Amino acid sequence: MIAIGCDHGGFELKQAIMAHLTERGDSFHDYGTYTSESCDYPKYAKLVAKAVASGECSCGILICGTGIGVSITANKIPGIRAALCGDCFSAEATRLHNDANILALGARVTGEGLALKIVDTFLDTPFSQDERHIRRISQIEGD
Ligand code: RB5
Repeated sequence: MIAIGCDHGGFELKQAIMAHLTERGDSFHDYGTYTSESCDYPKYAKLVAKAVASGECSCGILICGTGIGVSITANKIPGIRAALCGDCFSAEATRLHNDANILALGARVTGEGLALKIVDTFLDTPFSQDERHIRRISQIEGD
């Protein structure tokens, strides 16, 4: 189950991503916001991050205008590795190297066509399981 959420800046792109996930056959839970009315991104970033951190959802997708606010917020939740990606190389690398569990996108920065390719890359790339990457990830929240 994929957790997805956005603020007003990401609302339209979230609709396109949800349609794309449905086409792919991926199940998702939409944590809001549910309209394009102005709202505060931390609320939705925390809902998605907590759903992923608790194991309720296996990964998440967060969208705001820049992707920055939602990624900063999500990364405050222990266990969350949220990666703001504007290209497919980064989306692939953050899965392979960082085992990122949330993809953040900036709807005012990244067009829909590219954003959907980034989503595919993020969801279809497994973690490398390389020892050096496991060690580095453990150091993120360790000493
Ligand atoms: C909303 O105007 C905008 O600040 C928000 O979507 C996001 O870009 C924040 O980082």
